Amino acid sequence: MKVDAIAAPLGAKISGVDLRRIDETDFIAINELFVKHHVLVFPGQDLLPEDQMAFAARWGKLLRHPYAGMEQYPDIIELRNVGKARDINQHWHSDMTYNPAPPKLTMLYALEVPDIGGDTAFSNQILAYKALSDGLRSVVDGLTAEHSAAGLAAVYKADGAEAPRAVHPVVRTHDESGDRALYVCRAFTNKFVGWRKQESDALLEYLYEHSIQPEFQARHHWQKGDVVMWDNRCLLHYAVHDHAEDQPRRIHRVQVEGLVPA
Ligand code: SIN
Repeated sequence: MKVDAIAAPLGAKISGVDLRRIDETDFIAINELFVKHHVLVFPGQDLLPEDQMAFAARWGKLLRHPYAGMEQYPDIIELRNVGKARDINQHWHSDMTYNPAPPKLTMLYALEVPDIGGDTAFSNQILAYKALSDGLRSVVDGLTAEHSAAGLAAVYKADGAEAPRAVHPVVRTHDESGDRALYVCRAFTNKFVGWRKQESDALLEYLYEHSIQPEFQARHHWQKGDVVMWDNRCLLHYAVHDHAEDQPRRIHRVQVEGLVPA
């Protein structure tokens, strides 16, 4: 197993492994790298849907998305995009924060990729939290926020009133590393609990901008056969759909259950 850090804020590429043949020792080493680097890239994989699900399931039970999923493999979402056509993941978010127990990790496997563009961008929310002033850290440390999938329900033409909702701390403690990370995103966070919407919007807007500073970010440029997994407990991500009109991007996506954020 060869490990190369990808960028200063996050990410490591792991070469020389076949994800269909991972023993317990490999798994423990990979999880340590995952907790340290937050994003792992495994190039050159050749996986059936069953292989991808089995590898992800090393971390726990697969978590189904409330609105998407392949007919044959309901735990897998097939992301399909041609050219710049807007994708629902083209916004900064941590996955399914509207769930009481959001997924701890998401794993993508690239089947078709554009020659140029179509990257996935990540932003490290441990760094974002550390970069706040002592004063603002002491404010956000005590806050909780409401998250909702109502906006997403509209995209899938589902009933917004039935959409999942949850309340989470605005700063969560990583259950493996103990690191503290900012945990809000424009996509799913509605407002701070106990604050007026107007008050909440002003501070949330500041945090949304703060949380995606270039110094916290790295991007993955996809190659066919890449498997990329990221840690939703401490990252935001964004699908950058800037590729040419005739270029398809097709990716299989699974996610693994996490704990209730604390
Ligand atoms: C996602 O947001 O879950 C997918 C990201 C991507 O398509 O790059």
